[in-house]
Amino acid sequence: MAITDLPTQIEQGAKLIRAGKLVIFPTETVYGIGADGLNPEAIQKIYAIKKRPQDNPVIIHISQLTQLKTLVKRIPKTAQVLMERWWPGPLTILLERNALIPDIVTAGTDKVAIRMPDNPIALALITAAQTPIAAPSANTSGKPSPTNYNQVMADLGAKADLVIDGGQCQYGLESTVIDMTDEPIILRPGAITKEQIDATIGPVATLSPQDIENGKSSPGVAFKHYAPNAPLQLYPETPEMPTIIRRDASQLISAGKKVAIIGTTENAGAYPHNALFYNLGSRQQLTEIAARLFNALHFCNQQQVDIILCETFPKIGIGVAIMDRLERASNK
Ligand code: TXA
Ligand code: MG
Repeated sequence: MAITDLPTQIEQGAKLIRAGKLVIFPTETVYGIGADGLNPEAIQKIYAIKKRPQDNPVIIHISQLTQLKTLVKRIPKTAQVLMERWWPGPLTILLERNALIPDIVTAGTDKVAIRMPDNPIALALITAAQTPIAAPSANTSGKPSPTNYNQVMADLGAKADLVIDGGQCQYGLESTVIDMTDEPIILRPGAITKEQIDATIGPVATLSPQDIENGKSSPGVAFKHYAPNAPLQLYPETPEMPTIIRRDASQLISAGKKVAIIGTTENAGAYPHNALFYNLGSRQQLTEIAARLFNALHFCNQQQVDIILCETFPKIGIGVAIMDRLERASNK
């Protein structure tokens, strides 16, 4: 296929969306696989291609606030404040759905998840399509989300009708999901931190492990996620962490295993030279670590390692989302 310029690709993408086809496009968080958010048959194709459980609902992406009126019953004042502060941006807000939203979008629930992405390609695509776009992350269900074009092509790329290359995603980690239909509660930690939300609308609740066990959570939270092909082993954040990782890596290498270590600049010198090392950056820069996290998991897949040993991080600020993804990738 001839290489076309970006505006042409966006125009093509919009036509495909309107025709019920699937388009993979960049957002500021991760790449999404999009369909017309009001076309249930098109959205069903996303579920099939991703092998996504049917009871895991999808996010609706909009490019203008005026689109909201037709999609939701009401916008609580606090939700409005969040939108004014964080949209466009990596915050997904659950509101009461309108009848226009197909059941498949919400998995039959009465709430719809909506966000306005902060990416010029995504915004232009939604505007040109003249319809909200339903888009989960563009990965096979359970696998790490793609944050660049090569990662898209290594997974679902060939199965979409068009892939728009927008380079590396800025945040590299999915949006935060907050339910605003009642008392605000964060269902999925993400690129916008709880601290940032608290500072905007006052303290909000988060899901406790108990809630998740009782099935109170966002449906997606219950599923195994983000898993690389090799087992991922996490090491508690103690002063001995690098020493213990080095010891385990050396033993595994002696036993003939291909080992990858995902770690940080501060500890790089501690690790054996015959282990593959993916440097997430400095422990002082958790935002950069978040942005590289899925790249690290994709790197381990490309290298076909047997096992991954990984540092852990304080559960503060963006560290909460980093540890959420790592813990689920390690299938704990
Ligand atoms: O950053 C992002 O949010 C990316 C980009 C592409 O926008 N999208 C993304 O979509 O991560 P997905 O489908 O991989 O994750 C959406 C999460 C899931 O945990 C899902 O269960 C939850 O949002 N969710 C979506 N709609 C919901 C609803 N109506 N009620 C409860 N949870 C919902
Ligand atoms: Mg996902």
